[in-house]
Order: sequence, then C-alpha cells, then structure tokens
Amino acid sequence: MRIGVFDSGVGGLTVLKSLIDEYPNNEYFYIGDNKNNPYGDKNKDELYKYSTKIIDYFITIKIDLIVIACNTICSNVYDLLKEKYNIPLIGVIDATIEEFIKSNEKEVLIMATKATIDSKVYENKIKYYDPNIKVLSIATKELVPLIENQEDTKPIINKYLENYSNINCIVLGCTHYKLIQNNFNKNIKIINSSDGIIKQIKKYIKDSKKEITIYTTGNEYLFNKLCYKITGMKAKKLVL
Ligand code: DGL
Repeated sequence: MRIGVFDSGVGGLTVLKSLIDEYPNNEYFYIGDNKNNPYGDKNKDELYKYSTKIIDYFITIKIDLIVIACNTICSNVYDLLKEKYNIPLIGVIDATIEEFIKSNEKEVLIMATKATIDSKVYENKIKYYDPNIKVLSIATKELVPLIENQEDTKPIINKYLENYSNINCIVLGCTHYKLIQNNFNKNIKIINSSDGIIKQIKKYIKDSKKEITIYTTGNEYLFNKLCYKITGMKAKKLVL
C-alpha cells in the first residue's frame, strides 16, 4: 500500500526507518517539511496550515494511509485533521504512551518541543490512564535545530537534566530525539516515539511493491547528510 509519512525535518525518518524495517513491501513517501522547521515554536494555525498542505499533497498522489511522525502536529492539531480528512491518519503519541505504560514506571520526565509540552497532551493522557503517575516535563527548545544542523547536543542535554538527577525514565516526545538517544545516561530508561508505532499500524498494512521516495521542502544538501545516514537514501526537493 501507499504510505505517506511526514515531519518537520529529519526526525520522522526514525519512524520511516522503523516502518521500512518492519513492513518492507510497501510504497513509502516521506516529506520532511524543512522549509518550516522547527514546528516546535509554531502556533496551532501555522501547524494546521503546514500539515494540511502536506496531507492534501499526499491525497493527490493517492496515498492510502498517513503516519504523522511528529509529536508537535499530533499534540496540537490531530483532532482537527481527523475531522477534516477521511484517510486513515496514524499519530505517534498514543503509541509512545503505550510503550511508557508497559514500562510500569511511576514517574516520568517528558522531553518535547515547546508546542507539545504546552499542549499538555502527554501529561493529560498519562494521568487519565493512572492519576498516580508523576509526570514532569521540559520544553527542550534548543534540541531540534541542533539535531537538524548535526551539532553536539550533549552539553545542552546535561544542562536540561541538571535538576532531574533522580529520574529513571524519560519519554522522548519528539521524533528528532531518537537520533540523540545515545547521548543520554545508559542507566535511564528511554522511551522514544518510533518503536510503538509499528504495532499501531499493523492492522492497516497490505503488502504491495517496495518503493521509497523521500522529499524535503528545504535544503536537500543539508537534509541529505542525515537522511543518508539514517535511511541509506537521498531525498529530492519538493515545492509545496
Ligand atoms: N519531530 C517533531 C516532533 O516530533 C517536530 C520537531 C520540531 O520541528 O520542532 O515534535
């Protein structure tokens, strides 16, 4: 089947990679919306505008199912998108929370973009499941630009975690952060946004031919450095 996957940039490639590894016989179309990256400091209207542009494009190329590989879109405009479109839209948040719940941890630190943290989606959903779970959160604003530019994130991660030395479990509530998962202390349990999605999508999958097309709306040269490392493939430019 034809599966569309999108994010603001390279972050959703972590989700794409997990999908390709698990369900290789599908036609994947990825869009990294680097022209508008980062999404994390944008408001709901802007996030709605960017995501509808991408989804409308996917519909013109006859996509069967869309994976929104972006916590920021899912936490802010997922319900509006579900209302607007009939096409199946799979988000990353429920899958990520499911992975966290399975860990049986009773305290968690959510690290995500400002827009995701401000939406309180993680906090509310986890508390709804179990009000006794202690949910702490930090808006880790600097990380996405550093990741996109392939700069060192270790010093800033250490700074963010300075006041959380007792934390045993962190949810990386941004698909970009899986790319820097190794920069976290190995003794902390880390839940990322791409592992859970595999199970979530299983019931929809119908195998077809294998084909992968990756697009960026931004600078292909910069995007391709990381894209090639993650997927072994290069992206083409897409003007939306
Ligand atoms: N990777 C996205 C997320 O999961 C967007 C990050 C951004 O562009 O700020 O939230």
